[in-house]
Amino acid sequence: MSEPQRDAQEFWDEFYDGDDRIWSGWVNVHLALIAAGLAPGRALDLGCGEGADAIWLAEKGWQVLAVDVSANALDRARAAARQREVLPHIHFERHDLSDSFPAGRFDLVSAQFLHSPARLERDTVLRRAAEAVAAGGLLLIVDHGAAPPWAGEQAHAHHFAAAEEVLAGLRLDHARWERLRVGTAERDAVGPDGQTATLTDNVILLRRTPNGDVQAAS
Ligand SMILES: C[S@@+](CC[C@H](N)C(=O)[O-])C[C@H]1O[C@@H](n2cnc3c(N)ncnc32)[C@H](O)[C@@H]1O
Repeated sequence: MSEPQRDAQEFWDEFYDGDDRIWSGWVNVHLALIAAGLAPGRALDLGCGEGADAIWLAEKGWQVLAVDVSANALDRARAAARQREVLPHIHFERHDLSDSFPAGRFDLVSAQFLHSPARLERDTVLRRAAEAVAAGGLLLIVDHGAAPPWAGEQAHAHHFAAAEEVLAGLRLDHARWERLRVGTAERDAVGPDGQTATLTDNVILLRRTPNGDVQAAS
């Protein structure tokens, strides 16, 4: 019998309880490399955590809607945005994305490491993420492709979905989407005890066709 899944807010509020920062505070590297070349517009950051990506985007001129299930995470992200003086450019909303999704269409929808040991209807959430992309806009999904060397046995036993599997789960109409990048990417990282390693991520970058509907015949 499978174990009942924990409530997402309860799990993540506990995770973000206390004062110690959890993530590095740096923007996720694949997002930074991809978004550096884009004209700023409206961005949606799904599972924003402590807000590093949202802040980076706001500093580059984007108007950002940053969403997380954890009120504690959002408090941290808001405080960091205030300190970096970009609070007016980021709107924070709490959603359990399995149950509710922010309104609107965005030029960039980003889901960076939107993984969870608690309840998360990931395929449904990522399908809704695709729906939220404006005509001509981008969907960027970055996932862990493998466990880091410092992770425990359980993480090493975990099946990490390949980028193609995640793409298939989106059930997109391929006539309406341009596949810009679907595959693995490496990243240097530092572990909890200062150990360094090269980690494998999955990067999925798709563009909704500019007319938002059917791609023109070439
Ligand atoms: C692994 S962390 C990644 C955080 C951030 N994107 C980053 O790259 O540093 C996953 C984030 O997704 C959020 N999250 C997990 N399940 C969620 C859900 N059902 N709805 C909204 N956010 C969720 C968590 O609170 C957490 O901040």
